[in-house]
Amino acid sequence: MIEIRPYELTDLPYLYEICWKTALNGNSVEGVIDDKYKVGHYFAAPYVYFDRDCCFVVTRDNIPAGYIVGTADTVGYTKWLNSEWLPKVRRLYDIPSESSEPFQQFINDCIKNDTLVDKSLSEYPGHLHIDLLPELQGKGLGRKLMEMFFNSCRRKGTEGVHLGVSKQNPGAVAFYRKMGMFVISESEGAYMMGILLL
Ligand SMILES: CC(C)(COP(=O)(O)OP(=O)(O)OC[C@H]1O[C@@H](n2cnc3c(N)ncnc32)[C@H](O)[C@@H]1OP(=O)(O)O)[C@@H](O)C(=O)NCCC(=O)NCCS
Repeated sequence: MIEIRPYELTDLPYLYEICWKTALNGNSVEGVIDDKYKVGHYFAAPYVYFDRDCCFVVTRDNIPAGYIVGTADTVGYTKWLNSEWLPKVRRLYDIPSESSEPFQQFINDCIKNDTLVDKSLSEYPGHLHIDLLPELQGKGLGRKLMEMFFNSCRRKGTEGVHLGVSKQNPGAVAFYRKMGMFVISESEGAYMMGILLL
């Protein structure tokens, strides 16, 4: 049986696992990233500590197999991430300055450097990450999770949401467009997309 529900405390290990299995444009990072928890330490776990009300899971027979995590307050989140979360993650790893694997380099840079707030996104104060295991994709669950996230942001008075998506993930770009999101800006490898909620 498939259900969607708010994040609960015991869901955390599954979030790390789902993140590990989907982080590379929907594909597993096994063999790409040197540590099982590194990607989840940046892209999944911190959100459930900072803004649990914005985090939801999809369960299959009661076991989480997909999630949406994020925050209604990116500025506050980033301050907390830089002062409270990242210093502890850095203690877990001896991070090399260079890696020949681009995604490994990207994750190492995310952990090593403080996250910056992009002031051009001030109209879109929330941001999110969504990942479903392959067997749960294409069933309308992503849409439901996005609607639940948007509603949480609305309840908190957040008038807009943004996210980054790789140009190498055209399926996700198409999905976000279906959710009403549009491209705000782009870099060589990624789009910044957004939606106004009010
Ligand atoms: C991207 C993702 C969250 C979408 O969730 P989903 O449950 O598969 O999507 P839904 O079934 O709710 O689809 C909603 C709409 O988006 C469209 N859509 C979803 N995935 C699509 C794809 N790959 N290509 C084109 N359209 C797509 C659907 O056709 C549907 O349109 P409709 O409402 O007109 O029928 C999910 O597939 C996923 O987790 N993928 C792997 C991880 C990933 O890439 N995450 C995003 C990282 S930025």
